[in-house]
Amino acid sequence: MVVNGARCVAALLLLAFTAARAVPDVDGPLLNGNFEYPPNRSQMNGTRVTGAHAIPYWKATGPVEYVESGTDQPGDGMVLPVPEGAHAVRLGSGASVRQQLSLTRGACYSVTFSAARTCGQSERLRLSVVPVDAADAPGRELPIQTVYSASGWDSYAWAFHAEQGVVTLVIHHGDGGGAAEDPACGPLVDAVAIKTLHPAAQAAGGNLLRNGDFEEGPYVAPGSACGVLVPPMDADAMSPLPGWMVMSYSKAAKYVDAAHYAVPCGSRAVELIAGVEAALVQEVDTVPGSACRMEFSVGDAGDGCVACGPEQQPMRVVAAATGAQGPATVEYHSSGKGGHARGELAFTAEGNRTRVVLYSSGYHTMADGSGSLCGPVVDDVSLVCT
Ligand SMILES: *[C@@H]1O[C@H](CO)[C@@H](O)[C@H](O)[C@H]1NC(C)=O
Ligand SMILES: *[C@@H]1O[C@H](CO)[C@@H](O)[C@H](O)[C@H]1NC(C)=O
Ligand SMILES: *[C@@H]1O[C@H](CO)[C@@H](O)[C@H](O)[C@H]1NC(C)=O
Repeated sequence: MVVNGARCVAALLLLAFTAARAVPDVDGPLLNGNFEYPPNRSQMNGTRVTGAHAIPYWKATGPVEYVESGTDQPGDGMVLPVPEGAHAVRLGSGASVRQQLSLTRGACYSVTFSAARTCGQSERLRLSVVPVDAADAPGRELPIQTVYSASGWDSYAWAFHAEQGVVTLVIHHGDGGGAAEDPACGPLVDAVAIKTLHPAAQAAGGNLLRNGDFEEGPYVAPGSACGVLVPPMDADAMSPLPGWMVMSYSKAAKYVDAAHYAVPCGSRAVELIAGVEAALVQEVDTVPGSACRMEFSVGDAGDGCVACGPEQQPMRVVAAATGAQGPATVEYHSSGKGGHARGELAFTAEGNRTRVVLYSSGYHTMADGSGSLCGPVVDDVSLVCT
């Protein structure tokens, strides 16, 4: 991430010097990203898409189905509403949908899409961006085995660096390694959108962290009230949350917006929904021996995530940094209606790189009985060293 981030900054600086024009931003659904333009009926058999170019603006390969909101899903008879509009696609074993995108070479983008797990316990989608007409790249697998939202759909974010101006975005469902019982079975995909990511500049006031207020991040659909999951990533992968990395084996952090959640500062924040299994991490340059102070807000997203009273543990956010004697823990008694407190951690920088880490030390679920995971929100993180 650090490498990619630096490369992105360099690429953008280069663009700024070589051409005085701004990078045109993209921010919104892909063409037919909501799959509302129906496929050509003569290239379908029932719900099965039989022609590669049947769905306008997309190319389909493998067992792809065009599904309508409210219809029975094979496997478990579940009836799922569709997040955007009334249609979505189902990717069977080894199936993919792809679309060609015209972007700005050297810029960074995040892709947001909705997915619902239907029949498998551990369905995985693989996102990749490949040169036009190239074979599929290995890409990165996003695990979607954990359903966080009550609706059955979750929004996920993924990010990439555009090495060419024209690329193909591929959303692929792997076959899980084994012979699938029903090759038509697989996750539903809908609401595919893209947003230009700006490598967040360092904030004013000596804050060494980039994007400490999380204002820069993936596309959030204006009508989507479920936030966007930011899956874990390798250190060398591009992050949809510039500056930050979600460190976990398979769990995500949730990106939330002020339109639908209580957000401590600005219009975006991160809800830590996976307890100790996912942490927000950022590494910065520091002067060894300097006196550092990390400050951050801890609150609740106003989404009914209750953690107070005699029966429930309060929310606890742990902040740690290399060089600190021990971590700082902020307790927050959440009534699920919004509000926040400030926490801090003072330490002496040990080396020329300091890593700051934030995670929730507990597990919480929504008070509505849905069993959906939730947790504290963190926001407005700063690190000042003198
Ligand atoms: C639908 O597909 C058929 C067969 O491939 C083709 O002849 C026809 O032109 C297509 N119609 C539209 C509106 O694209
Ligand atoms: C449509 O699918 C059914 C069931 O899989 C199959 O029996 C039939 O031959 C297919 N029709 C065409 C035109 O391919
Ligand atoms: C950072 O520290 C390491 C070892 O502690 C050293 O090898 C490296 O040169 C230092 N880098 C900078 C930029 O000072």
